[in-house]
Amino acid sequence: MTTTINRREFMKLTGATVLCACTGAVGFGGCTAISSAPLAPEGSYHREEDWGILSLAEVEELEAVGGVVRVPFADGPAAGVLVVHSGEDAYHAFANRCTHNGKELDYRHEKGRVQCVSGKSHFDLQGDVIKGPAEGALRSYPVQLEGDRLVIQLA
Ligand code: FES
Repeated sequence: MTTTINRREFMKLTGATVLCACTGAVGFGGCTAISSAPLAPEGSYHREEDWGILSLAEVEELEAVGGVVRVPFADGPAAGVLVVHSGEDAYHAFANRCTHNGKELDYRHEKGRVQCVSGKSHFDLQGDVIKGPAEGALRSYPVQLEGDRLVIQLA
């Protein structure tokens, strides 16, 4: 048995493919508004009042410099916190929302920047805009490394 589609359906499919290609996106992740950063494993994080605690020993994705995860802290930002391991003992945490239109964020270690999943807006590791259309800085949270725990000041 074969499946057939009419011309209109074909154009619709082809048009969608072209649209994704025109965004400059690489791979399927670029066609979505969801970050490609993996979620931190359940049990590796918890909230203590104004602080988010991340147990680095339980987060394999952050072992190496260049690693990144999303952490869905309870009562934290709706899309979670993007935690970046940018250098030896250097970590950064951002609300996972582009300040242009609220899409999620990815980390590009090779470029030393955070960027919107749309590929358009880029931010430095202080959260400041490098390239728009976003105009406002990312919300960044102070972080402190305490042994193998990363303590993130969420409020
Ligand atoms: S939502 Fe990020 S550039 Fe538009």
